[in-house]
Amino acid sequence: MSETGASSAFEDAFHKAAERHERAWVFLAVTMLTLLLAGTMFLVVYAYGIVVRTDGFRRDPAALDTPEGSVVKTGPNAYTVTVVAHLWRWSPSPLRIPKGATVTFRVTSADVLHGFAIQGTTVNVTAVPGITGSVTYTFNRPGTFNIVCNEYCGLEHQGMLGRIVVTGDPA
Ligand code: CUA
Repeated sequence: MSETGASSAFEDAFHKAAERHERAWVFLAVTMLTLLLAGTMFLVVYAYGIVVRTDGFRRDPAALDTPEGSVVKTGPNAYTVTVVAHLWRWSPSPLRIPKGATVTFRVTSADVLHGFAIQGTTVNVTAVPGITGSVTYTFNRPGTFNIVCNEYCGLEHQGMLGRIVVTGDPA
């Protein structure tokens, strides 16, 4: 606050008026944003009926974390593999399967969101805690395939690698 009388009175009045206007505009902006958010949520859920249905896919991620038992043979050269993402590793890894194997990956996470992508293939699923995603792929050529995490999940995200080894001989 200034010491000189005239300018002080003017400045006080100016600041009071400015603060009043600032409060009004901030209040207006926050109110508009709140209404916009509430309105959008209301429209999405009630008017459009968009609801994320997850009940049918719910599993206990901890119960799935059994590397030995997570590869199940379902046909002559077909497998179902339960893949669990952890901070910061994939289970099971390395995964050994014969050439020509058709693998259904059931993908979930034990902690946070991860991205399950197998390099050189079309496999790319988000690993979500509490939800199991599914994707099927046939490995027609032998070799080593890297599993990479393609969703940022924390400090060691870039090192979160797994391996799938496709052996030369069909089962
Ligand atoms: Cu796991 Cu990024």
